[in-house]
Amino acid sequence: MTDPVVSHFDRVADSYDEVLPFFSGFASLTVDRLAPPAGVRALDLACGRGALTGALLARGASVTAVDAAPRMVSLVRSTYPSVPATVGDSAALDLPADAFDLVVCGFAIHIVADPDATLREAVRVARPGARLAFTTPGRADDSPDRWDDPLVELYAEYRRYQEDGSGRHGNDFDDDFGRFGLRDVTAETLEIAIPVPDGETYWKWSRSHGSGRFIDGLTPYRRAEMHARLLEHMVERPGFVLRRSATLWIGHAG
Ligand SMILES: C[S@@+](CC[C@H](N)C(=O)[O-])C[C@H]1O[C@@H](n2cnc3c(N)ncnc32)[C@H](O)[C@@H]1O
Repeated sequence: MTDPVVSHFDRVADSYDEVLPFFSGFASLTVDRLAPPAGVRALDLACGRGALTGALLARGASVTAVDAAPRMVSLVRSTYPSVPATVGDSAALDLPADAFDLVVCGFAIHIVADPDATLREAVRVARPGARLAFTTPGRADDSPDRWDDPLVELYAEYRRYQEDGSGRHGNDFDDDFGRFGLRDVTAETLEIAIPVPDGETYWKWSRSHGSGRFIDGLTPYRRAEMHARLLEHMVERPGFVLRRSATLWIGHAG
């Protein structure tokens, strides 16, 4: 496994979405919005622990799941034994063309190594007219979230201590989805609100998904300092609720 993003997700798989129901929260909003009919043939691309897989199964969909991180796939297999889950690169899927009525991809287009090839593959495996749905962090109109969030403030402050100077670990995906044969694409904002019991839980959550790479990129001294500062901020905010937004993109394969 040479892709550092995939290696990271493989390492954090056991705690991923287990500390706070962040990805499963967005998955449930996404699937409610899609309201797929029972029996729909769905592909969960870059499935992680299967947040979308679980929500789709609950609606009676027949789900296939793919992720590049072997540990994620093994956890999906044990949680959802009926789901064919395989280790694979979203940029080169070992799946036939025109096989799915719905392709979903939660919080991955902005981090996969090759977002263009991933979108091309998503369209290839979708039957003509099938729906494709992707989520990415942040609001559909690009405006910043205005909620008080000590972790977001600390990310901004500690960015300068990252080795690469930016602390940014995503790709530059282009949301001109028409290039891939997707039509009638809509973008809407989803929001979640999750109570966080204490600072230690918030710190643990921050390390259990993609942003853990940011924290791993700090020196031990800065990491310990950031941890201590988050705990202090959280003591000042009893009853803190984690509020974040995401954009849900929905289009149709041409
Ligand atoms: C932020 S997680 C999202 C997981 C899941 N979709 C969810 O909503 O919880 C991103 C996932 O993308 C996977 N991933 C990253 N690069 C990939 C690639 N090239 N092909 C397939 N999966 C990839 C990671 O292993 C990780 O499980």
